[in-house]
Amino acid sequence: MTVIDLDPSWLAACLVLDERALNGFWSAQQWRSELEDPRRLCLGLVRDEKGLSGVACGWLVVDELHITVLAVDPDERQRGHGRRLLTALLQRARQDGAAHATLEVRSDNIAALSLYHRVGFKTAGRREKYYRDGSDALIQWRRLSTEE
Ligand SMILES: CC(C)(COP(=O)(O)OP(=O)(O)OC[C@H]1O[C@@H](n2cnc3c(N)ncnc32)[C@H](O)[C@@H]1OP(=O)(O)O)[C@@H](O)C(=O)NCCC(=O)NCCS
Repeated sequence: MTVIDLDPSWLAACLVLDERALNGFWSAQQWRSELEDPRRLCLGLVRDEKGLSGVACGWLVVDELHITVLAVDPDERQRGHGRRLLTALLQRARQDGAAHATLEVRSDNIAALSLYHRVGFKTAGRREKYYRDGSDALIQWRRLSTEE
């Protein structure tokens, strides 16, 4: 499997993965904007010419990478794909001038929190009742070193 830059030709595959891994997090229009905007980073782990095993996207605000999506197909989890995609996204952001990275994650998302902590993120704060169902978000933050 290979990590590639996703372009708009991957829209249909992103929608399939989004439905399977995130229960329809973004609409087709949101995915299209993500894939078309050259300021956004969007990487995919490609299974074959049509299929995606995972995606990792973010955007650079000055020197900070804001991670917007990280998802791995439910049938392919716990095989290192999430870590591989996240590491690739951080490396790419560093090359593009990012000095730190941040994101929000549900406070009960144990899989994502352990992945972020494994990759060096620290919990930097809590946004209470951030999600529609009333659950809290934990702000994750890490510095990106020049070696990355
Ligand atoms: C979070 C997610 C991307 C992890 O992807 P993954 O490919 O399964 O993760 P990896 O196999 O690379 O695991 C990396 C680390 O994460 C942790 N981890 C992953 N899944 C875990 C689980 N179910 N329970 C506990 N820890 C877990 C482990 O610490 C693992 O480290 P190790 O391999 O050294 O033990 C995946 O579960 C997913 O797509 N979840 C739904 C979408 C989501 O919640 N995204 C994050 C939104 S902020």
